[in-house]
Amino acid sequence: MKRHLGYYLLFLSAATTMGYASRRSAVDLDATPRTTIAYNDLTDVQCFRGRALNYTTLLLEDETGMLYIGARGAIFSLNSSNIADGSQRTIEWEASPEKRTDCLKKGKNNQTECFNHVRFLQRLNATHLYACGTYAFHPLCAAIDADKFTLPSHFEEGKEKCPYDPARGYTGLIVDGGLYTATRYEFRSLPDIRRNLHQRPLKTEESPLHWLNDAEFVASVLVRESVHSPLGDDDKIYYFFMERAGEESASIFDKGQAARVARVARVCKSDLGGKKILQRKWTSFMKARLACYIPYYEVLKSVSSLLGGDWLNTVFYAAFTLSAQWRSMEVSAVCRYNISEIRAAFEGPYMEYQESSRKWSRYNGAVPEPRPGACITNRARGNGFNSSQDLPNGVLDFVKLHPLMYEEVKPVGREPLLVKKNVIYTQVAVDRVLARDGQQYDVLFMGTGDGWLHKGVVVDSAVHIVEETQLFRDPQPIETLVLSSLQRNLYVGAQSGVLQLPLAACRRYLSCYDCILARDPYCGWDGEGCRELAEAADRNRLIQDVLHGNRGCWNDSAQGAAVQKNRTVLRDDDVLLQCDQPSNLARAAWLVNGTEPLAEGGQSHFRLGVDGLLVMAAQPEHSGEYRCYAEERGLRSLLAAYTLLVLPAPLPPPTAPLPSLRTAGLAAGDGRLIYIAVIMVLGGLCLALSVVLLYTSCLQRRKGKYVLDNPQASSSSSVELQTLSANCLGKGREEEEEGGRYSDGCLQIIPGEAPPAASPSKETTPTLLPPPPPPLPAEFTNGIATLPNMLRKMNGNSYMLLRQSDEPCPSPLYSSSFTEELSKILEKRKHTQLVEKLDESSV
Ligand SMILES: *[C@@H]1O[C@H](CO)[C@@H](O)[C@H](O)[C@H]1NC(C)=O
Ligand SMILES: *[C@@H]1O[C@H](CO)[C@@H](O)[C@H](O)[C@H]1NC(C)=O
Ligand SMILES: *[C@@H]1O[C@H](CO)[C@@H](O)[C@H](O)[C@H]1NC(C)=O
Ligand SMILES: *[C@@H]1O[C@H](CO)[C@@H](O)[C@H](O)[C@H]1NC(C)=O
Ligand SMILES: *[C@@H]1O[C@H](CO)[C@@H](O)[C@H](O)[C@H]1NC(C)=O
Ligand SMILES: *[C@@H]1O[C@H](CO)[C@@H](O)[C@H](O)[C@H]1NC(C)=O
Ligand SMILES: *[C@@H]1O[C@H](CO)[C@@H](O)[C@H](O)[C@H]1NC(C)=O
Ligand SMILES: *[C@@H]1O[C@H](CO)[C@@H](O)[C@H](O)[C@H]1NC(C)=O
Ligand SMILES: *[C@@H]1O[C@H](CO)[C@@H](O)[C@H](O)[C@H]1NC(C)=O
Repeated sequence: MKRHLGYYLLFLSAATTMGYASRRSAVDLDATPRTTIAYNDLTDVQCFRGRALNYTTLLLEDETGMLYIGARGAIFSLNSSNIADGSQRTIEWEASPEKRTDCLKKGKNNQTECFNHVRFLQRLNATHLYACGTYAFHPLCAAIDADKFTLPSHFEEGKEKCPYDPARGYTGLIVDGGLYTATRYEFRSLPDIRRNLHQRPLKTEESPLHWLNDAEFVASVLVRESVHSPLGDDDKIYYFFMERAGEESASIFDKGQAARVARVARVCKSDLGGKKILQRKWTSFMKARLACYIPYYEVLKSVSSLLGGDWLNTVFYAAFTLSAQWRSMEVSAVCRYNISEIRAAFEGPYMEYQESSRKWSRYNGAVPEPRPGACITNRARGNGFNSSQDLPNGVLDFVKLHPLMYEEVKPVGREPLLVKKNVIYTQVAVDRVLARDGQQYDVLFMGTGDGWLHKGVVVDSAVHIVEETQLFRDPQPIETLVLSSLQRNLYVGAQSGVLQLPLAACRRYLSCYDCILARDPYCGWDGEGCRELAEAADRNRLIQDVLHGNRGCWNDSAQGAAVQKNRTVLRDDDVLLQCDQPSNLARAAWLVNGTEPLAEGGQSHFRLGVDGLLVMAAQPEHSGEYRCYAEERGLRSLLAAYTLLVLPAPLPPPTAPLPSLRTAGLAAGDGRLIYIAVIMVLGGLCLALSVVLLYTSCLQRRKGKYVLDNPQASSSSSVELQTLSANCLGKGREEEEEGGRYSDGCLQIIPGEAPPAASPSKETTPTLLPPPPPPLPAEFTNGIATLPNMLRKMNGNSYMLLRQSDEPCPSPLYSSSFTEELSKILEKRKHTQLVEKLDESSV
């Protein structure tokens, strides 16, 4: 506890010292995904799994409709419109046995490392792809004919192009024939940004200052800044990475170990290196700090860029997690950066390393001309500097010693768009969508460390998470996300395979309100269903409200999807009126006879649960119309309507053997009899429980939702188990009063309205007679006398509401605090969304 407090204080002080005190409320600090889609509810997903593992390198070519995948020991070529159509081609590319033996001798892991992990795969020219693999710590590269799709006979040395270590941070691009890669290439070498396959290969400078300190690269992006540039500017390649911080402010927190910071660096495409100074080195390398949430305590995980139209509109989205200092806290943040602000940092003041004090500080001296690190522009050309080789020595010397900029790059709005607890975002991909309102919205797809995908839409300066989807049954990090706006697909690479899923699944939303509230810019309501804008014949007819998420459905009563049901129970029974909220952001509101009973409080008979309203010990006066609404963003939509009828079944005289036994025992004052009675109670309980568990487990539908009964589903299960009662009905009077409709026995199963489609052949128990005469399954009549009053299915679990109605015999087990505890646990479990399957043993 103290530890946590300490971290928290540190966190706060860090946040305030850095001027990043959050202006957001605590609620904002943890965005809740609106809907949760579990693995078994996935639809429209295509999956590709070859024999290989580690599908980490994806290359999508929208023009040809191909998706190439680099995996461990193989390269695949798939049809991007359906990666699972069986038309794939495979190149087996395993490390040779000799190289594997070498690798094992070096003490490397024979399970993960001594393989050929394909880490680079890009288009080289019209006919060839270029691929590099770690080849058991002996990197190799090859130009692959894309049509023949076979390995060439000749390989190239990969040492300067591909990392030897499959886990090492790496990024690479082919730009106009040049291969731009960044990683730590070999065990002994320093991390380096290199250009190969070019008449002027270049690398970063190592002395006297390291331009890169133990850098782990995350991403690189080409921005074509030369296009329509009035300055005659050059194209630039931006690099995003983590490295050890040398700056003064970095030592505030970590006296001992050096803090690591996120950086953005860039080089110019036409850089040719210097003539004498910085020969074969970049003359245009510059780097700046990249801040998101809490600088020095965040780890950059992924960067995705949107190069919309004019390069000036380029934005970068970056996912960060808090670093190991917060081991006990898993927090992710997403920030947006604007290229103009990155450029501003590179055009601002430089930092300087003072040998005497061993510190970096702002450089305030004179800056030579042309500006060090800048690309060659028209102005430089006008002054006679046609290329970097013409640059004066003074400029190059300055470049050598001043790689770092003074200004840091802050996110747009000076704060993260999204902060999410208990999640590690490993990947982010972004799409820009033109919505019905004429605005463009950025849609983020964020992969997590345990195989989930969060889809969010950026509205104003925050992210609304539309949905979270479990993509893999076995938790595994999402390693690559590639988006095709053309195919409207997302491709997901992970250890066990590659998935293809549509960018939007609008049909999931069943009502106009649901469709609007989702705020999914891909989706709109056409009066009958939620449709994809891209597929609609007339998109202007669709109703959509991404901005507010609650407008447009005026005419739509949203009643279509509501369930109408009758419930008939006996007095003193408990009944669950089921009402599942489709949204995690919605609040359930119940109206009874048109008024709100739960707002008044103190209604001890009602309990509002996560999947419905529990009426406990129902009395005849509780009969009435119950309506369940979802309240979200000020909209109220009807989800279910029940007509509850509580039959005034009088409490019977205790005919069951147990109560009489107990009475006798008590009368005799014989403790042993009570003991026996308790054993019998427990025994009966066990029996009953197992019978009902068996019964209900047969009803378990495909997992997914936590409800047993889904009224919208067409393939419904047969029986909805709603109420069980142990009220033992006497044989005589009741039978007469109720017209002989109740037979004897102590357990009543009153089925809910079984969907009419339920086929009789599926029925395993003869319980399906129309209510109100509650039929009695013969096999349940025996030995259930001791069953406590409630046994219920909730959230896919069976549980008992233990309550002593007849016997004023207080027992710790039978107290209502136990039931409270249970429902608390159940509610918690429902919100623990990462638990894929709730099973009986968990409660
Ligand atoms: C490759 O996959 C295996 C098994 O899923 C995993 O243990 C290993 O860490 C992965 N290797 C890399 C480099 O991702
Ligand atoms: C991919 O599949 C689609 C539909 O099956 C087909 O029309 C298309 O020609 C295929 N593309 C390639 C490159 O094979
Ligand atoms: C890998 O190494 C472990 C321990 O060194 C050994 O037990 C195992 O058999 C090896 N596996 C393979 C596939 O060589
Ligand atoms: C593409 O590159 C490969 C390998 O360098 C080369 O053999 C081939 O001729 C090139 N193709 C074209 C069209 O330039
Ligand atoms: C980038 O930021 C600047 C200044 O904050 C702003 O004027 C500009 O509109 C932004 N550009 C984009 C594409 O967001
Ligand atoms: C730069 O190029 C211009 C025009 O191509 C040429 O006239 C000039 O001599 C060149 N300058 C140098 C320093 O090479
Ligand atoms: C709503 O209903 C009114 C009258 O019934 C109709 O004139 C109007 O076009 C409807 N609006 C929408 C969006 O359907
Ligand atoms: C519920 O009961 C009412 C009156 O008893 C009846 O009219 C209605 O059809 C019943 N509804 C269902 C869904 O069974
Ligand atoms: C609802 O109305 C009915 C008849 O109007 C009444 O008998 C019943 O007690 C009411 N129920 C509640 C919970 O107020």
